[in-house]
Amino acid sequence: MSGEPAPGTVLKRLDEIPDPGGAPADYDALPIIVLRSGDTVRAYVNVCPHAGRPLSLPSGKTLVSEGRYVICPFHGASFELGTGACAGGPAGKSRLKPVAIEVIEGEVRAR
Ligand code: FES
Repeated sequence: MSGEPAPGTVLKRLDEIPDPGGAPADYDALPIIVLRSGDTVRAYVNVCPHAGRPLSLPSGKTLVSEGRYVICPFHGASFELGTGACAGGPAGKSRLKPVAIEVIEGEVRAR
């Protein structure tokens, strides 16, 4: 994927991400959202597969429901936080595009 961060790139500090919740990554070449619920941390391309809108609001606020689903703020599609699979709404059987990460010393880094 074009613009993917090089391994080791710091995308976000863990303590900058609401738990449960999400936040856009500190990375400009590709829009990435980092999601967190307890020990589960995932990163996805920050583009909803329904109509290509971001999963976060302009303020960076990200809607996570029940600690399990990220909700697209535009038309309400929900996606499993852990897998990126669509769980309801207008995005059908699509899924979010994952970005490989690891958490090291409190930092979410590209893998
Ligand atoms: S753009 Fe996300 S549900 Fe439509």
